[in-house]
Amino acid sequence: MTAKGALRLGVNIDHVATIRNARGGIHPDPVRAARLAEQAGADGITAHLREDRRHISDHDIERLVSEIALPLNFEMAATDEMLAIALRHRPHAACIVPEKREERTTEGGLEVAGAMEALRPMVGRLGDAGIRVSLFIEADLRQLDAARAIGAPVVELHTGAYCDAVGADRGRELARIQAAAAHAAAIGLECHAGHGLAFDTVGAVAAIPSIVELNIGHFLVGEAIFVGLEQSICMMRTLMDQARATATANHPA
Ligand code: PXP
Repeated sequence: MTAKGALRLGVNIDHVATIRNARGGIHPDPVRAARLAEQAGADGITAHLREDRRHISDHDIERLVSEIALPLNFEMAATDEMLAIALRHRPHAACIVPEKREERTTEGGLEVAGAMEALRPMVGRLGDAGIRVSLFIEADLRQLDAARAIGAPVVELHTGAYCDAVGADRGRELARIQAAAAHAAAIGLECHAGHGLAFDTVGAVAAIPSIVELNIGHFLVGEAIFVGLEQSICMMRTLMDQARATATANHPA
């Protein structure tokens, strides 16, 4: 296993299941991918059980919980069905994400500020079961304050807009993530980030000192076609660790 810094890497294996489901059957196996991710230096495994089960299945979740030593971050919509599944399996963490049936991927962050009363009991029930709850939100201070107010210990900042932006817009999106990560630390929230990260975009996010975990999937699985999954994860890990080490050397705490 590669050396680990203060920044954790969660490998999202959803799209191994996407490829499997394109033909049905059992190949390629997302649980095998999770084992390889562990060997390659991942600190956790992330899997999103969608309402339509388009990639990860209920059986995959059962196997990830029982067969994989790494902590599982269970991505879930805020529904009673998903709450019951989370409470049955008790993964290490649950990340509540918005989910629309027609979207290709999780397109934006969760609306927490406008749904505090609906989300508060779910955050409470997951927390009471010993599951570390995070809310997947845009880099928006209002959403951070709302997350804090309903008792979520963790937020994950959506990095999709930053990764998709070009030119000066990318800098502006990065500045929003930096400001949100600083605000998270100031109000006592643990801060994660993810979505759309690739080799060319990970460094700037990894350099933000208050972010302690990145969750990355689609790019890693795509790159694995060319270099293999372990190599793809090792390279990501190296880029993250280098960016964090450089930032820490330049701005010691
Ligand atoms: N974090 C969350 C909350 C997500 O929903 C996703 C996508 O499922 C990711 C991270 C990983 O995004 P990507 O697959 O684009 O790396």
